[in-house]
Amino acid sequence: MKNKITQLQHKREQAFKGGGEHRIESQHKKGKLTARERLHFLLDEGSFEEIGMLVTHRSTDFGMEKEKYPGDGVITGYGNINGRLVYVFSQDFTVFGGSLSETHAEKICKIMDLALKNGAPVIGLNDSGGARIQEGVVSLGGYADIFYRNTLASGVVPQISAIMGPCAGGAVYSPAITDFILMVEHTSYMFVTGPNVVKTVTHEEVTSEELGGASAHSIKSGVTHFACENEIEAIDNIKKLLSYMPQNCEDVAPNLEYEARNETIPELNSILPENANQPYDIRDVINKVADEDSFFEVHKNFAENIVVGFARIAGRSIGIVANQPAFLAGVLDIKASTKAARFVRFCDCFNIPLLVFEDVPGFLPGTDQEWNGIIVNGAKLLYAFCEATVPRITVITRKAYGGAYDVMNSKHIGSDMNYAWPSAEIAVMGAKGAAEIIFKKEIASATDHNAKWLEKEKEYSDIFANPYRAAERGFIDEVIEPAETRIKLIKAFNMLQNKVVNQPRKKHGNIPL
Ligand code: HXC
Repeated sequence: MKNKITQLQHKREQAFKGGGEHRIESQHKKGKLTARERLHFLLDEGSFEEIGMLVTHRSTDFGMEKEKYPGDGVITGYGNINGRLVYVFSQDFTVFGGSLSETHAEKICKIMDLALKNGAPVIGLNDSGGARIQEGVVSLGGYADIFYRNTLASGVVPQISAIMGPCAGGAVYSPAITDFILMVEHTSYMFVTGPNVVKTVTHEEVTSEELGGASAHSIKSGVTHFACENEIEAIDNIKKLLSYMPQNCEDVAPNLEYEARNETIPELNSILPENANQPYDIRDVINKVADEDSFFEVHKNFAENIVVGFARIAGRSIGIVANQPAFLAGVLDIKASTKAARFVRFCDCFNIPLLVFEDVPGFLPGTDQEWNGIIVNGAKLLYAFCEATVPRITVITRKAYGGAYDVMNSKHIGSDMNYAWPSAEIAVMGAKGAAEIIFKKEIASATDHNAKWLEKEKEYSDIFANPYRAAERGFIDEVIEPAETRIKLIKAFNMLQNKVVNQPRKKHGNIPL
């Protein structure tokens, strides 16, 4: 037995060495941690249990049978984050550049299958040169096996992808199917085809960083939800994200202990600018209404005209979607609609109640928006709210104009409680534009066109630039003082905590894509 145990220890030591000292050194020189170091920082101390440490590839072409590393470029297993079970895979760039072989894929599939059966999140730490070139089609098959499981697991268990190095070719599609992507500035990139192929096909000259770095994907494409300064920040963000989520779709997110205090927030009564056309930062409202320091913004740098993120209200995890008057006046456009729609759907999958702050002048007009499909893209947000069955509350702080009124979690599409501040303006459009259209003839025939226009603008504004028409109809449940917002929300979310909705039987809906 002693010899046998020594043999086992030797094999384990081999596995711990990954691709060897010099490759580990080169990984560190690039400012990157190794796959095992990342797991060390991610998981609770001593909680990691590795599965498949001794797996090696089965490839024989190109002399590969002589070059085998236990683990085959990915470390897989399970462990805890803040005491809660998670399944993890961490690609080891020091072994064949973390490239995905048949067996590497099998290891990832194994933990995904376990996660699905046992209802716990899957976290992927990606650092890979893509398909193992020496293996050809079996590697491609391996990717597809992962994509298939990503899709099966979607909406069943949370899936989070951190990109800690290269992620190229079809490899980007597994992270794309998962719920959240985090990238690290300057050491990670994602693209379907790299700069060389881009140059050959389109003659564009672009660096990897410009094409698919963390900044490009957090600001321009919106592919990544977080651009982190370094790997530790990315790992900390994963832990924070998980703290707002349940383990699976049958579970609810953990409630934090909360001690009741005076929940009136007098400052909110003076938070809006005097003039309704002036901007303000909706985050100031969110931070005052939510539990202190609980707001965790997601997708911060993309489509800044809408703010989404997690927060807590009296210890309860909620998802917030808020128009941002400080950016493009909070208008809804294609990017804002798709960003918010995806967030709403995530919250709905995982029983996280939704809170909407509404101050929206409408959808963005113009050829760019129309030709790029604001109709179907705006409809995604509409659809996402309509189908959401979690508790849903809206607070209209100021403008709720046009179709955007309907879309932003209105009563009509299934919201449970709709509040409005006295500053709310709920109408088909702004008073100036409305007067111009419906009083066109009167304005034209008046001796002083401008004076008539102003008079008619005021007339329209007196009727609609307030929340009371909507309140009379019951479309607004209560007009509240801003200072009362938090207490109203605490009570309403409490009241809605056992909400059940039975929807018509269907295979699945057909969200406009
Ligand atoms: C096998 C690979 C590999 C791969 C890298 N390596 N990529 N081995 N298959 N795909 C190995 C290298 O041979 C090298 O081995 C080690 O990993 C480190 O690679 P370097 O090139 O030295 O590192 P670096 O300079 O940092 O460059 C990293 C890289 C580059 C940018 C990822 O290696 C690269 O471009 N690789 C190929 C990327 C690619 O085209 N993959 C296929 C994409 S298509 P040694 O022994 O020297 O340490 C795809 C299809 C998926 O993935 C389809 C799914 C639908």
